Amino acid sequence: MNKVSQILVGGALGLSILTAASAADPKPQDTVDYRKSVYTIIGWNFAPIGAMMKGEVPFDAAAVVRHAQYVEMMSKAAPEGFTKGSGPDAVKDTEAKPEIWTNWDKFEAKMNDFQQEAAKLTEVAKGGNEGAIKAQFGKTAETCKACHKAFRKD
Ligand code: HEC
Repeated sequence: MNKVSQILVGGALGLSILTAASAADPKPQDTVDYRKSVYTIIGWNFAPIGAMMKGEVPFDAAAVVRHAQYVEMMSKAAPEGFTKGSGPDAVKDTEAKPEIWTNWDKFEAKMNDFQQEAAKLTEVAKGGNEGAIKAQFGKTAETCKACHKAFRKD
């Protein structure tokens, strides 16, 4: 093996070891950044649906579908953001309560509720019926509130 390919192989190995380590054991701060990003995207997409439901902006069925799809997708991405050891004891800049990890079953149930209602919201949105969308938006919003009340600091 010449020197160049030795370096290349070594580099590739080093990289794969690094990747494996970070995938299996993310740093607490990275996990917090990840979950905040996920919730930022959720909020970004949920708010305009809310504004339409309140009549603040005109109803746009296609936009509701698009935003609902992002919320649904991010609801599936959210659980990964709560690895053990990423609570307020490890990271200062988080609003996640320690109860998430001491009461994991309840937290997971709230996450499931959210995922189910978000999936239904996409389904209902595709139907284009404003009244039905409004009702399902309300149910989905309840799942945000329920989890924040129990597991997020005010
Ligand atoms: C299963 C629990 C759970 C559900 C469901 C949930 N959230 Fe959250 N959310 C959290 C937690 C915990 C945090 C705090 C994250 C942190 O600071 O580490 C958070 C933070 C946020 C943030 C702030 C993000 C930031 O940058 O700090 C927004 C915005 C948000 N959620 C919106 C929503 C909306 C909108 C919904 C529903 C459509 C929702 N959340 C559903 C648990 C939940």
